[in-house]
Amino acid sequence: MDVVDALIEHHGVLRKLADQAEGDATAFEEFRRHLVVHHTMEEKYFYDFLQQIASARKDSLEAVNEHHIIELILKDAEDFPPEHERFAIKVEGLGEYTAHHLDEEEADIFPMARQLFAASDLSALGGLFLEAKDTLLNVGLPQAPSGIDTTGSGAAKSLARGLGIGSLKKMTRR
Ligand SMILES: [Fe+2]
Ligand SMILES: [Fe+2]
Repeated sequence: MDVVDALIEHHGVLRKLADQAEGDATAFEEFRRHLVVHHTMEEKYFYDFLQQIASARKDSLEAVNEHHIIELILKDAEDFPPEHERFAIKVEGLGEYTAHHLDEEEADIFPMARQLFAASDLSALGGLFLEAKDTLLNVGLPQAPSGIDTTGSGAAKSLARGLGIGSLKKMTRR
């Protein structure tokens, strides 16, 4: 699959998740995950090359700048608990801005890229995008242990253990 078709296919997933994300914390998290992977890999396997072509540079930089704006809106939405009345409003705004960006890519940038890149290069980049996307979306992070001391006094305790202060106190208590 060439990179343009692969990107358009993933846009479909993003549109669906954006619709589901309003007021649904689980769908919002899934949307956030796909969006971050999409932007990162779209920049690495598409815009990093497109922006090197003089006639496409300005449009490419504008599109990458829109990624940054979308991520700022995303960060803003993340600060609201899902039950907060403004959460759904924030996610709706995020979905609208994202949809506008996806529409613009599909209407203007992708057709331009098809004219500027060789079919073999589009195909090679598509393979890399799909492989990276699947790897990143399926990555499983190890669970942190539940007994991590978050009181902030961990270093003092370690020091006391090192000096044997704990056992010294026990001995003097006897
Ligand atoms: Fe994009
Ligand atoms: Fe995209």
